[in-house]
Amino acid sequence: MDPVRNPYAPGAGQRPPELAGRNRELEQFAVTLERVAAGRPERSMVLSGLRGVGKTVLLNALRGQAVGRAWGTGKVEARPDRSIRIPVAQAVHAAVREVSHRHRDPDRVDQVAGVLKSFALRTQQADRKGMRWSPPVDAVAVRGRADSGDLELDLVELFGDVASLAGDLGVGIALFVDEMQDISLEELAALCGACHEISQQGAPLLVVGAGLPHLPVALAASKSYAERLFRYVSVDRLPREMAERAWRVPAGTEDVTFEDEAIEELYALTDGYPYFVQAYGKVTWDAAVGSPITAGDVAEAAPEAEAELAVGFFGARYDRATPAERDYMTAMADLGLSGGDGAVATAEIARHLDRKPQSLSPARDGLIKKGLVFSAERGSVGFTVPHFGKFLRGRS
Ligand SMILES: Nc1ncnc2c1ncn2[C@@H]1O[C@H](COP(=O)(O)OP(=O)(O)OP(=O)(O)O)[C@@H](O)[C@H]1O
Ligand SMILES: [Mg+2]
Repeated sequence: MDPVRNPYAPGAGQRPPELAGRNRELEQFAVTLERVAAGRPERSMVLSGLRGVGKTVLLNALRGQAVGRAWGTGKVEARPDRSIRIPVAQAVHAAVREVSHRHRDPDRVDQVAGVLKSFALRTQQADRKGMRWSPPVDAVAVRGRADSGDLELDLVELFGDVASLAGDLGVGIALFVDEMQDISLEELAALCGACHEISQQGAPLLVVGAGLPHLPVALAASKSYAERLFRYVSVDRLPREMAERAWRVPAGTEDVTFEDEAIEELYALTDGYPYFVQAYGKVTWDAAVGSPITAGDVAEAAPEAEAELAVGFFGARYDRATPAERDYMTAMADLGLSGGDGAVATAEIARHLDRKPQSLSPARDGLIKKGLVFSAERGSVGFTVPHFGKFLRGRS
């Protein structure tokens, strides 16, 4: 069918035509926003799940809710081996901009801008990688506030001041942190500490996180009370009826329907993983001759959908791994892991490769850093990419 009218949207962070199966999280977050704006105690939200399950898209939808309530918002994308100081300063700057133009007291706005500036200035001195950024505002840096160099103390002061500015307007500040598992343990602890202090003050500021399945473990390791700070939401593949919605609703807006057998077949092939839902939806649409889309259309489209995934979804990630890391992942696949289906003991991988477990640590750590493998439990690892084991087995 006409590719121009194709509604499906495979791609990292691509907003799906129908955000299926996430109503509970959206409703919960609406309550969280109301409670925090009213100064009531509330846990923030942390989303975790495998690659391509829709964490970024959900995080963006939550941000949309905060924007809809006139909150100030900003977003950080964490990176391995990078400090979060400058990204946080930039996100706070974006959030402050959204509220300051509605604020009636220019002196208070300048004061907060000055604190942000002093945080950013101090940050430049502390950032060894030499990232440079200063908020593009005229305000004079407020010396002695948010510039001690101790990240936790500085964040408490910065967050407190921006939250109080938003509080003047009856709203709050929400910061969204994607790939949160890439923040170093030390900075994660500082961020948690600051959130803890701010929430005890009843100040309207939220940090909402998203990351790989081991993110809750990393948070717990950084501060013992992390669990009381965040509501952990596991973002997962879509159940059958939600995947069906994800295919049918967008097609419906184009007056196109699916035969039940086509949906059955699509679900069997994709397991309801959102990235695959979009990828298969897109190729199937293009392959179909007309409405209704049949199981035959799906069968015809499947090899092409797999080929596209092999390049864009799996291949791009496989290419980033070193030869030793590839051997490690191939062993995981040989041991029966498909991806999305649990974990395998690292000792077993060592046995399979006939190597000493310690000698494999660099490969394992490299894969974790590259976000291809996660370890939610000591001594075991799983693929972060659904169906990755199947992909690897198909290569050999
Ligand atoms: N609830 C949903 N219903 C239908 N499609 C969805 C849903 N959530 C996400 N998608 C689709 O899935 C794909 C992946 O989404 P997204 O990039 O948010 O995943 P992710 O979990 O952030 O992945 P990664 O870990 O690689 O960053 C996108 O094409 C998006 O349109
Ligand atoms: Mg993402």
